[in-house]
Amino acid sequence: MTESEAPPTSSGGVLSRSRAEHATELPARAPEGGMPRRGTSLPASSGTPQTGLVSEPDGDPSVTSDEVVVLDYGGQYSQLIARRVRECGVFSELIPHHVALERVAARKPRGIILSGGPASVYAPDAPPLERELLELGVPVLGICYGMQLLVHELGGRVEQADVGEFGRSDLKVIEPGRLLADLPREQTCWMSHRDTVFEPPPGFTALASSSASPVAAVESVQRGIYGIQFHPEVVHTPYGQEILTRFLTDICGCEATWSAASIVDDQIARIRRQVGDGRVICGLSGGVDSSVAALLVHRAIGDQLTCVFVDHGLMRKDEGEQVISAFRDTFKVPLVAVDAERRFLEKLAGVTEPEAKRKAIGAEFIRVFEEEAAKLAGDGGEGARFLVQGTLYSDVIESGGGTGAATIKSHHNVGGLPDDLQFELVEPLRALFKDEVRAVGGELGLPERLVWRQPFPGPGLAIRIVGGEATKERLDVLREADHILQEEIRKAGLYRELWQSFCVLPDIRTVGVQGDERTYGYVVVIRAVTSDDAMTADWARLPYDLLETIASRMIGELREVNRVVLDITSKPPGTIEWE
Ligand code: XMP
Repeated sequence: MTESEAPPTSSGGVLSRSRAEHATELPARAPEGGMPRRGTSLPASSGTPQTGLVSEPDGDPSVTSDEVVVLDYGGQYSQLIARRVRECGVFSELIPHHVALERVAARKPRGIILSGGPASVYAPDAPPLERELLELGVPVLGICYGMQLLVHELGGRVEQADVGEFGRSDLKVIEPGRLLADLPREQTCWMSHRDTVFEPPPGFTALASSSASPVAAVESVQRGIYGIQFHPEVVHTPYGQEILTRFLTDICGCEATWSAASIVDDQIARIRRQVGDGRVICGLSGGVDSSVAALLVHRAIGDQLTCVFVDHGLMRKDEGEQVISAFRDTFKVPLVAVDAERRFLEKLAGVTEPEAKRKAIGAEFIRVFEEEAAKLAGDGGEGARFLVQGTLYSDVIESGGGTGAATIKSHHNVGGLPDDLQFELVEPLRALFKDEVRAVGGELGLPERLVWRQPFPGPGLAIRIVGGEATKERLDVLREADHILQEEIRKAGLYRELWQSFCVLPDIRTVGVQGDERTYGYVVVIRAVTSDDAMTADWARLPYDLLETIASRMIGELREVNRVVLDITSKPPGTIEWE
């Protein structure tokens, strides 16, 4: 895959510092740190979908697709390995290294990949390798720490070298073997390690070396064990995807049948099995996750689904209409649209503290949703037994570095529903990464505007009126300013490159002079960031000319605004939102 195919949401576009710059900024001792990623894309639809999809948290023995498990040893980019495997058309899930062997075996994987990780194999608490994994009869590929673990465990020599190897490195293939066959004898790769393999285990062949790694790749075809010191999952290993493909198809014998089309068909069958002829309700927010989840469920069970769209009056300009028109008019999904602006504004009156705003909005949202659910039941119909949620894989993924407790993001759950609602959950996106959800959305015909919508917080514009009350007047000013920003960013072709772009309206006024008159108006803050997952973010380097156009439009078109400023804080130390 070329870099130009990278999805705009990945960092490294024109708006962020270049990947090369990131690379040189790697901290001296930061195994796995700061590695640039390749852009991601799903393989094209196969047309003849055949794969099954694991969506249950503990896997599903009935899974029909070929699957390769990635055991997570805490590498910062372990998720990326699973994504790359999926890009090869093979389903993959990330499992913490410490889970029971039976859990891995139950999935009947066609291969196992051991990820990188920050530990040294000599550290007293180094995450270990369960030897029985090697007896499962499926090929194993160790990457970075994963390779060191295999080598150490099987009798090779791993030592801490005087110099670590961080960043781009030249790989020399000594003996291509099976893993590196037909690839250039000299190639670039991306390294991030201090411990180094000096001798392969007995019976293993050393396949390659680099300037700082005497043994940078090993294999024992007979035992089905392979190892590479470098990272095939990052963009600076140009043959990385080929090497992964070699492992998956030639070595593991996987069939490349995983695709957006296969996800759709598989999920439709699953939803039908789960729901039967029950009634289903779905809270639609207009975001890509709930939209795709709703459409999938509608494809599966048609009018058994009712969507509820609560317009809290805190949306962006025209967004409510776009959602209603797409779902009700285009897709003919039964949709209850509730205009609840007045109710929400009443609850927000006098509320200035950010968490109080979130709580007020969250509580009111639940109230409205419950009322609508009760109305459905009261219409002579049977009440909904099932609730659709757009939970993603990244929300439920377990971290390999910790104790194995599932880490579920909860702090931003405003606009979501509480756990004690009496519904069974339908979560058709539970196994998918965000970019796969977008691909599924495209596959289902969801309009591009919804497929590519930037993340938008549940409490909406209310938490972008900072330090003050979210009144109708302020919300309208903010909505118009935001509309100008979005229009210009789209016109400049930058919308998809940004993780988020929005305006903030602090509760202050500043002095200006317009048409010889002194003004006392609002300040609009422009916030635009690049990010891969919102955990960290960089401020976007928007072109000056674009900034000028945006600022003069805001001040010219919005009477209440007389100053525009740009937020140049990355995360950390700042957060993306101001409240
Ligand atoms: P921060 O501001 O913490 O935001 O860097 C990270 C991501 O979360 C979004 N965000 C929210 N989403 N309800 C939500 O649904 C919230 O209360 C909330 N607060 C922040 C934010 O837009 C960014 O994508």
